[in-house]
Amino acid sequence: MTAPLIDPFARAITYLRVSVTDRCDFRCVYCMSENMTFLPKKELLTLEELDRMCSTFVRMGVEKLRITGGEPLVRRDIMTFFQSMTRHLESGALKELTLTTNGSQLEKYAQALYDCGVRRVNVSLDTLDDEKFAKVTRWGRLPQVLRGIDAAQKAGLHVKINAVALKGFNEPELFTITEWCASRGIDLTWIEVMPMGDLGNEDRLDQYWSLKDVRKAYEQNYQVTDLTERTGGPARYARLEESGQKIGFITPLSHNFCESCNRVRLTCTGELYMCLGQEDMADLRGPLRDHPDTEQPLEEAIRKAIGLKPKGHDFDYSRQSVDGQMTRHMSHTGG
Ligand code: GTP
Ligand code: 5AD
Ligand code: SF4
Repeated sequence: MTAPLIDPFARAITYLRVSVTDRCDFRCVYCMSENMTFLPKKELLTLEELDRMCSTFVRMGVEKLRITGGEPLVRRDIMTFFQSMTRHLESGALKELTLTTNGSQLEKYAQALYDCGVRRVNVSLDTLDDEKFAKVTRWGRLPQVLRGIDAAQKAGLHVKINAVALKGFNEPELFTITEWCASRGIDLTWIEVMPMGDLGNEDRLDQYWSLKDVRKAYEQNYQVTDLTERTGGPARYARLEESGQKIGFITPLSHNFCESCNRVRLTCTGELYMCLGQEDMADLRGPLRDHPDTEQPLEEAIRKAIGLKPKGHDFDYSRQSVDGQMTRHMSHTGG
């Protein structure tokens, strides 16, 4: 182990999110445009290079690895990569290996993921209505995702649903989704929609459903108790006493959580983004590829990048306009 990674604001960086592909089999409206241009394959880190990158971060104190995309399970041979990360779980260096997925390929991969030591998966699902699902994902079909969730649970994976709170879209489904999750022993986290991608400004403001209002809606039907427990992610949790269910709230807009940020993001081309909501990034592919026999230049590049981690994002809708917008698509960094 080397010295831990500490950023300029004294935050320890122990969580790496790795986007293994920019491709996806869905086209969610708030994430991608309909006609996306994807990276040529030669730009991508190979699975061996991804292994070297992640193993270096693990040596530098990363304890939690989340595999993202695009859709991580559409990357060819991705199970080989999961299998190779298992050794870091077995050594105890890595406490958690997990992924965020749209669920479309879970039916196929759930058991293999469990066998690689994955114990929790976060599945993005914004609606339980077939038509609305087809609309928000453009290309997705709900039954396939529901079969994936079933398979994950059967394999012993703990499932958390991530739902982006979208005004006038899944607002009427708040309790339906909540009860559906409760009846299946699935955790649920709501996310405020962030101004990323190339949609017009008005769209985002129209879509924005503050989680303060979501919470108020819960309070009208349930007794809501705040919990102090954290999973190392940005969500704050509350319990609905009537069902005992835990609900997560990810509130980049209504309640900034950057002061407790512990994570950085690696893209599939080896760029390290120090903050989801800022442009600052460092190229790690160069130091990796130029030095096949030593990780020292890579370690130095990582340390330098962490030394430049910004304080936080500048997303802000409070002036009835979208501030801090990022043209980068969410699929570039995997959320
Ligand atoms: P667990 O707590 O381990 O379940 O995971 P997590 O919440 O860290 O990961 P998940 O992939 O479920 O994150 C859900 C979403 O929260 C992401 O897709 C992003 O939209 C958002 N998110 C995660 N980290 C950040 C962050 O650092 N800043 C902002 N603004 N949003 C984030
Ligand atoms: N704002 C908030 N969350 C988003 N996601 C994608 N785009 C946005 C956005 N603009 C979420 C997805 C998924 C995760 C990868 O990021 O719903 O849960
Ligand atoms: Fe694909 Fe996830 Fe983006 Fe939807 S949010 S288009 S499922 S990467």
